[in-house]
Amino acid sequence: LPEPGTVEFKDVTFGYPGAEAPVLSNISFTAKPGQTTAIIGSTGAGKTTLLNLIPRLYDATEGEILIGGVPLKELGREAISQNISAVPQRPYLFSGTIESNLRFGAQDAEEEELWEALRIAQADGFVSEREGQLESKISQGGTNVSGGQRQRLCIARALAAKPKTYLFDDSFSALDVSTDAKLRAALVEPTKDAAVIIVAQRVSTITDADQILVLDHGEIVARGTHEELLESSETYQEIVTS
Ligand code: CTP
Ligand code: MG
Repeated sequence: LPEPGTVEFKDVTFGYPGAEAPVLSNISFTAKPGQTTAIIGSTGAGKTTLLNLIPRLYDATEGEILIGGVPLKELGREAISQNISAVPQRPYLFSGTIESNLRFGAQDAEEEELWEALRIAQADGFVSEREGQLESKISQGGTNVSGGQRQRLCIARALAAKPKTYLFDDSFSALDVSTDAKLRAALVEPTKDAAVIIVAQRVSTITDADQILVLDHGEIVARGTHEELLESSETYQEIVTS
């Protein structure tokens, strides 16, 4: 069996219910633990849809997705939520406290572990400045924190769960370049044994990924490392220079 956390797509096709054309066609790849798999492609290419199939927000129309060699449908909801942390493109906070938001998926974590997750996510500074700190209130939808703070709290939440698979959907877009760089550097150690899948807009942030999948109109049109794709893929060159 592949290692726990391994994500395998086998010839996956997906169309939204009621839609005529599929949004994803014949997607095959393997994201391995200890590696970063980046997905890049223009808006509407199907990147978010692809990520959303992994925690079963939708089921593949054709083909199969396996986690650690087990088909998603046999895994069960609990195993999926215990093993996979997803930071969605529009990160969501629940009304409650910062702590209750961080404990979603990490009920038994020590308080120190929550702070460690906040430190990695570059969120410890603003949390410690808020009155009540971990007990500070978050309003419905997280409207009383900034977009970048919301993003970092959702990243901290993902880290606190200590999953085997991380899904980041454009999760660093609201951060300034310097915070983005610090956060990425801090993420290396805690995610080093996990399978990490990152959807990115900025190529600069994924140049050291182990594999990059170039998605265009729902198909993987090229794959490889940054250097390989610069040589082989016109679509990639266009993304790099755009
Ligand atoms: N789509 C849809 N129904 C949804 C979500 C998306 O029909 N509930 C369609 C979109 O209109 C688009 C395609 O599915 O044509 C792919 O959408 P998405 O996966 O969200 O594309 P991304 O690559 O994530 O685009 P972006 O970079 O803008 O996030
Ligand atoms: Mg998207």
